[in-house]
Amino acid sequence: MKLELVVIGFVFATSAAASRAAAQAPDGKALYEENCRKCHGVIGNPPKTMKEKYPKIATFNMAFITSRTDDSVVTILTHGKGDNMKSFKDKLKPDEMMAVAKYVRELGSKPHP
Ligand code: HEC
Repeated sequence: MKLELVVIGFVFATSAAASRAAAQAPDGKALYEENCRKCHGVIGNPPKTMKEKYPKIATFNMAFITSRTDDSVVTILTHGKGDNMKSFKDKLKPDEMMAVAKYVRELGSKPHP
């Protein structure tokens, strides 16, 4: 009985800590949907209209992530690339860029139909 209470207490304590951490870390998925999805697509496959408009647009797939790190994506976000991939340095804070970069690489690691 006493052990059960200890276990329950532990579960409450850890889930409270986890939700505090989640509240502090920027939400990469939400930031992606707000800032990137329009051009790069929900799962990192740019929609056809965007591919026609921007032939060089990146698809976030396995080939993409094997040649990029979180840091190299952050560099792109800081400086932009080409004429259409704008810099996000005025829109996203450094920790937000890192969260988006991680999310982009997570998308890339998922299967693309
Ligand atoms: C207006 C459309 C548009 C939006 C919005 C956009 N991108 Fe891009 N992105 C592009 C285009 C076009 C390219 C290809 C640039 C080139 O290679 O010339 C690109 C390229 C990239 C690349 C690949 C660069 C490389 O390493 O070759 C990354 C990473 C990237 N975008 C991430 C993002 C992220 C993350 C966001 C949201 C914060 C975002 N993009 C928002 C159009 C967009």
